[in-house]
Amino acid sequence: MVNHSSFWTQANALLRKNLTFQKRNVKTNLRLILFPVILCILLVLIQTLIDSQLDTLESKCACACPDKSTTCNNSEKVCGVQNSKQNQPIDCVIPKPPEWPPVLQLPSAFCKANGTCPVKVLFTANNQSFGQILSDNMFPSAPIVNDSDIMASLAWNVVGSEANPEETYFNEPAFTSDRPLFYVQNECPEDNSGLTFPYQIAGTTSDKEIKCAQCTSFWRKSSSDINNELYNLYKRDNKSEIDDVASAFDFLDSNEEGFNITVWYKTNFMPNTDSPTLLRIPRSVNLISNAYLQFLRGPETKMLFEFVKEMPKFSTTVSIEIASLLGGLFFTWVVLQLFPVILTSLVYEKQQKLRIMMKMHGLGDGPYWMISYGYFLALSVSYMLCFVIFGSVLGLKFFYLNDYSIQFVFYFIYINLQISLAFLLSSFFSNVRTATVTAYIAVFGTGLLGGFLFQSFIDSPFPRGWIICMELYPGFALYRGLYEFAQSAANASNSGAYGMRWQDLSDSSNGMKEVLIIMFVEWKLVLFVAYYIDQVLSTGSGKSPFFFLKGFQKKPPLSFGKPGIQRQGSKVLTQIEKPDVIQEREKVEQLLLEPTVNHAIVCYDLKKFYPGRDGNPGKFAVRELFLAVSRGECFGMLGPNGAGKTSFISMMIGLTKPTSGAAYVQGLDIRAHMDEIYTSMGVCPQHDLLWESLTGREHLLFYGRLKNLKGSVLTQAVEESLKSLNLFHGGVADKQAGKYSGGMKRRLSVAISLIGDPKVVYMDEPSTGLDPASRKCLWSVIKLAKRDRAIILTTHSMEEAEALCDRLGIFVDGSLQCIGNPKELKGRYGGTYVFTMTTSSDHEKDVENMVQQLTPNANKIYCLSGTQKFELPKEDVKIANVFQAVEVAKRRFTVFAWGLADTTLEDVFIKVAREAQAFDTLS
Ligand SMILES: *[C@@H]1O[C@H](CO)[C@@H](O)[C@H](O)[C@H]1NC(C)=O
Ligand SMILES: *[C@@H]1O[C@H](CO)[C@@H](O)[C@H](O)[C@H]1NC(C)=O
Ligand SMILES: *[C@@H]1O[C@H](CO)[C@@H](O)[C@H](O)[C@H]1NC(C)=O
Repeated sequence: MVNHSSFWTQANALLRKNLTFQKRNVKTNLRLILFPVILCILLVLIQTLIDSQLDTLESKCACACPDKSTTCNNSEKVCGVQNSKQNQPIDCVIPKPPEWPPVLQLPSAFCKANGTCPVKVLFTANNQSFGQILSDNMFPSAPIVNDSDIMASLAWNVVGSEANPEETYFNEPAFTSDRPLFYVQNECPEDNSGLTFPYQIAGTTSDKEIKCAQCTSFWRKSSSDINNELYNLYKRDNKSEIDDVASAFDFLDSNEEGFNITVWYKTNFMPNTDSPTLLRIPRSVNLISNAYLQFLRGPETKMLFEFVKEMPKFSTTVSIEIASLLGGLFFTWVVLQLFPVILTSLVYEKQQKLRIMMKMHGLGDGPYWMISYGYFLALSVSYMLCFVIFGSVLGLKFFYLNDYSIQFVFYFIYINLQISLAFLLSSFFSNVRTATVTAYIAVFGTGLLGGFLFQSFIDSPFPRGWIICMELYPGFALYRGLYEFAQSAANASNSGAYGMRWQDLSDSSNGMKEVLIIMFVEWKLVLFVAYYIDQVLSTGSGKSPFFFLKGFQKKPPLSFGKPGIQRQGSKVLTQIEKPDVIQEREKVEQLLLEPTVNHAIVCYDLKKFYPGRDGNPGKFAVRELFLAVSRGECFGMLGPNGAGKTSFISMMIGLTKPTSGAAYVQGLDIRAHMDEIYTSMGVCPQHDLLWESLTGREHLLFYGRLKNLKGSVLTQAVEESLKSLNLFHGGVADKQAGKYSGGMKRRLSVAISLIGDPKVVYMDEPSTGLDPASRKCLWSVIKLAKRDRAIILTTHSMEEAEALCDRLGIFVDGSLQCIGNPKELKGRYGGTYVFTMTTSSDHEKDVENMVQQLTPNANKIYCLSGTQKFELPKEDVKIANVFQAVEVAKRRFTVFAWGLADTTLEDVFIKVAREAQAFDTLS
């Protein structure tokens, strides 16, 4: 084949074009890549704000001087809980936990309106008298106070409180809150005004007033009675009864020999609160054990329960890490942000038909895919690198605590999957706006669904299989991966350890391994499917869904004269035979039997049928087209709008497939070898398909490289092409095509179709919108170009057809009505002169008489205020006679103007079109 450009030449051409294109787009690209940087800065700002709010004494584990009123050195400061009223004890370091007297939990709101606060203790036992003795021993009858040993005093008495305990024993709300404190006794004094208990706890001295609460024990027959009673009290809707049971005991089979009990304990907090709270069971157990001891050893025996305190502990939260907190949702959006960009860019090339334009000039699918994919990959990698590097530099733990190699692998696989998906989806969109809107909805929807739905599945004990199923959706896989990074970073920053490492992937609670596997497999799969669908669906490739089985199928005839095309001798033609059309058909049949290289385009019985839709009947756009165009010939197609010219060209350039028949370009069948034909074909489409931001020169360089021009040959060809089409001077060549006028764009399109010496060129109305000077210049270029190639040109300008075309075909209603060179056609269909004469209206009759004398077959076609037009049959009149007659007439009356014209091509065109349509309506 003629200088067929290789894969790498094409790739190189496309790469250079894209580089130039992206250089123009550098601002947009930079903005895109720097987007993550802005986000990272935003995150850091929010973090700083949060930290500054947290860094106050009230809410942070701070360091302060032991005596808060004085100043001190840093070394003297005490760190940890500085304000016992806040939540600090939960997270802050507690090196020396305070000691608190054990407290018995009392029911809330048990004090009656008259100021007495009676509580009950329920008990049951196998031996009732035994149980009674023990319950009598539990509470003292009078308070025992030893001022010099407060802790011991509190232990001697039974201290009770209705306040709820907290999560740690750093605080004992029984003492620190404003709820009343009680000493529980068998009997209360008449005057229950309360005692004031001075106490010193957590470094501060306070007074707490203590009132008496009288406790009575009640016998119940069985533990199920106790259960029922407690259950009824517990029911919140039963408001009439005051819940006054402090505790309950079942002594079971206990006796002198053995001690075996069940203790019912009370909690006051509401159900459904899930924060862990310490329970005040120890005091109940101590009470009953003490009572048993007194039963065994006498009333003087006491087992003092002096205090409870929790273990010293390290601090558990350093700070709130906003990046890890928002990690999943926020970063999912950031990474997904690239998806609409890629999809839009792909659909744009499709919508603007730039892809098919490149393909028609020989760009193979392989180089296109490689370069496009490579470009998007480079863009995505820069984007993610920027994201990770800046995030790390700005100190986001999300990035620098996790192993960078895992992050790299994760992001790399994901962006590849994302690009493949964009390629796949771009096959289904033809409109940029739809694609953009859909993509952004997908991005935000995925983030939100991931953050609010999918995450709740991950956190809950949902079957692992189902979660993996959901991760098959790439957005959720991404979310899961980012979520794992965020979790690892958050855990690491709290425990001061590392984030995710490779060995953590084997941990079954870490979802990263599945995510990586799923994404990798999907990447390969989606890429394959995307390429396959592109091959089948995209216009111009014309491949069947089973194109990869091509090797096993019977190939269509490769060149002339092979089976598949046979003479159809007994063909019944439905139309009135036209000698020139029949002659063309015989020529084609002859050519197929005896191939010659001279004929660049041969069409044999080409048909295109559009099946009926929505009840409309089907339509033949092209029927029984036989045509041979030799090298060095410019064939002009004329025809009214909708005659089928564009359908014919679409078939020839591979946009649509013929319904039947065959066409050969340079001996190659358009049904099977379109890709090879493209390498020696040039197309000037009806609408200019140009990149707005590339200059004319860059367009020509790109298409020239696609056509395998290199080095100085390329520069020279581009230069010549620009000069010949008048695009060279005044810096036009280096202006961006978007700034060109319509005429300049048109000329550039023609230049593109001719660069690289294509053997066959299709031009669809090349001169529309050109000024006369530009048109002249264009014509001379085409005239020069047709010398060694075949050109098929459609036009509505008869002048152009006459100037450029060696042969013309008039196309009406899907078939050729006549074919021949302009002169022949005029001779055949014209056959008349048009005679015009203008006189004053008084002499109209004289003019008519004069014409009648010239020929009786004259036909008046126009008459208005003295101007008359006649058609004179050529065979009847001699031009000399006409001149003579006019001379005579001039002597008799005043002739303002007169003229004699040969028939124009326009007349032929109108006549042929009218005849064909008349025939159609007849049949
Ligand atoms: C019940 O307990 C009392 C007091 O310990 C004891 O005296 C009595 O024998 C016990 N009764 C039985 C039937 O064990
Ligand atoms: C009060 O406590 C102190 C110190 O533990 C002790 O020495 C003293 O005997 C106690 N007084 C009484 C009356 O128990
Ligand atoms: C304690 O009582 C329960 C219930 O009656 C009984 O099942 C258990 O064996 C007893 N334990 C001992 C050590 O006697």
